[in-house]
Amino acid sequence: MDKLIITGGTQLSGELRISGAKNAALPILAATLLSEKPIMVGNIPHLHDITTTMELLGRMGVHLLVDEKMNIEVDSSSITSYEAPYELVRTMRASILVLGPLLARFGEAHVSLPGGCAIGTRPVDIHLNGLMKMGAEITVEGGYIHARAKRLKGCRLVLEQVTVTGTENLMMAAALAEGTTILENAAKEPEVTDLAHFLNKMGANISGIGSDVLVIEGADRLGVDNLHYTILPDRIETGTYLVAAAITGGSVKLKNTRPDILDAVLEKLTEAGADVTTGDDWIKLDMHGKRPKAVSVRTAPYPAFPTDMQAQFIALNTVAEGVGIITETVFENRFMHVQELQRMGADIKLESNTAICTGVNKLTAAPIMATDLRASASLVIAALAAEGSTLVDRIYHIDRGYDHIEEKLAQLGATIRRVPN
Ligand code: EPZ
Repeated sequence: MDKLIITGGTQLSGELRISGAKNAALPILAATLLSEKPIMVGNIPHLHDITTTMELLGRMGVHLLVDEKMNIEVDSSSITSYEAPYELVRTMRASILVLGPLLARFGEAHVSLPGGCAIGTRPVDIHLNGLMKMGAEITVEGGYIHARAKRLKGCRLVLEQVTVTGTENLMMAAALAEGTTILENAAKEPEVTDLAHFLNKMGANISGIGSDVLVIEGADRLGVDNLHYTILPDRIETGTYLVAAAITGGSVKLKNTRPDILDAVLEKLTEAGADVTTGDDWIKLDMHGKRPKAVSVRTAPYPAFPTDMQAQFIALNTVAEGVGIITETVFENRFMHVQELQRMGADIKLESNTAICTGVNKLTAAPIMATDLRASASLVIAALAAEGSTLVDRIYHIDRGYDHIEEKLAQLGATIRRVPN
């Protein structure tokens, strides 16, 4: 397995271009299954999860053409299989996103039940209950979800918990259902909004976009000529590099990004002592060489502080001035990075879903191991500030969500290299 060796102590500085959002690209590529016409999707990030999604769609008979700028032309006009096999789903839970589109367009889907993962059990009961209320017959056997429906029927669904992919699956299913679907307590994450705009460009009729009540008028068919859609920038990649600059006391400018979808994170970075300025599509952060101040955050669904930035802020707090209290309310086991940070000398106490971080003057390098995507980002951030050279193992996790991370960090002056196994 590849490893990263990072030598800490350099203040990051320079400019970086942010890639397209992984969590928008995944549902949008799944949504192409709904279209009878080919679609060009632009600003796709170069990530392992995208490769997995392309393999999954390819196995169903979807034709995909990728150009050197990672624009992907997708043609779902001749599907031959309605199956998402275990060996792909187990590497990427987001494969569940093909369930709604397959059922809505073809009336049939066989999707491996996504197992749990390091950060929690992550059930899909809300996805399945919603589809059954829309008239789908669903059985789960042999580790697969088997779903059939002559034609899904629109109805009013009140989601018992805010779920991002649950909202996305049900919105895609409703786009081709008969009649109107009202999704209440829908997720409002910018990636959900991006998917809704994409569906409307395909000819769907969705209103309430950006709110927690989505109204979807089902269409008989979807697909328009010459559609070219550009994915929105990745807010979590943006936040991750801002924290990397903050922990090193550095100064960076991130381009091709969206400050307007990162309010909660930018507010906390300012509280940590960063000087943050923004434009329409750029964010500049300058710590003026100062040590960050500890901040407290409580994760919750958008527009509150994102759970996908929790691990990065714990890393920031490990060397900050003071005590920061981090409370995780979305996933039940999203502190796997804490024990690895403790190996580097961090002073963190865990009390149920809260991490109490007392800043230390410095971390020291130690061999550490990534456990999940955002935890691995947190370890890289800590290594950038630690004394000595840190070896981060199992970084296949990080390759799932960060496009060319060592190149981008090296561009900002970090001393980092990948050690292939
Ligand atoms: C999406 O996961 C993201 N993944 C996650 O990003 C992100 O952390 C999460 O939303 C929360 O923002 C993608 O978009 C591909 P949820 P998702 O359904 O949709 C419970 C990353 O690092 N729940 O919003 O799987 C669930 O257990 C990844 O990029 C049910 O109980 O998350 C959790 O406690 C990690 N039943 C809560 O809801 C369901 O049917 C929120 O989960 C569905 C969810």
